[in-house]
Amino acid sequence: MNIILLGAPGAGKGTQATRIAEKYRLPHISTGDIFRDNIKRGTEIGLLAKSYTDKGQLVPDEVTCKIVEGRLKEADCADGYLLDGFPRNLFQAEELDKFSKVDAVINIDIDLSLLMDRLCGRRVCKDCGESYHINFLGGKSDCEKCGGELYQRKDDNEETVGNRLKVYGEQTAPLIEYYRKKNVLINIDGVGTIDEVFARIAAALGQAK
Ligand code: AP5
Ligand code: MG
Ligand code: ZN
Repeated sequence: MNIILLGAPGAGKGTQATRIAEKYRLPHISTGDIFRDNIKRGTEIGLLAKSYTDKGQLVPDEVTCKIVEGRLKEADCADGYLLDGFPRNLFQAEELDKFSKVDAVINIDIDLSLLMDRLCGRRVCKDCGESYHINFLGGKSDCEKCGGELYQRKDDNEETVGNRLKVYGEQTAPLIEYYRKKNVLINIDGVGTIDEVFARIAAALGQAK
């Protein structure tokens, strides 16, 4: 099954993606993770992406679409994939339709007012990418899953989060209607514990199969 995870910054896409990918044995493809990895390695794509991600703006469509098109051609995507953070505007959605078929779009629905706190309090594992929130870490600074060191993303500060939420509202939110019209939208209430949200997604995907 080819699945897209849609949702505002901090809605829980990455958190749920890890769990969905494990349960349904799908490769988890996060364009944000791809850009952060390129930035870390200092590649040409990374140098370009950094100037956008640091400001909370979208990396240009040509670059992003090319990366995703190439990635979906890899062997591990032959039986399905889980896209997290792509598409993010109408142009990207229309491009994706040209090179792949989308079976289900999971929209994690959450009130935007909750997201500033979620994002500014987020800590991410350097090694496995798992996300945590400082309120639940009890002062720990390493990953529960793999022992890796936790860090704060450079774009998780008030100013950049503000921009990311604005960009989401203007460019990404219209995709909800785009996919509703195509009859592939699954709306999931994103409020609740991580396990509760995951149970809703698993139940909806069970029916979509
Ligand atoms: P990206 O990495 O995709 O960031 P984002 O969309 O802003 O989303 P996040 O990763 O911040 O949030 P999430 O929904 O994954 O939440 P998470 O699960 O971590 O993109 C970054 C940048 O890359 C963009 O700004 C752009 O510049 C560029 N980019 C990426 N894709 C692009 C594209 N297609 N085109 C152009 N540019 C692109 O959870 C957040 C926090 O909440 C965590 O602390 C977590 O522990 C906590 N949490 C999760 N679930 C719950 C819950 N149920 N209850 C309580 N807390 C929870
Ligand atoms: Mg994420
Ligand atoms: Zn880890």
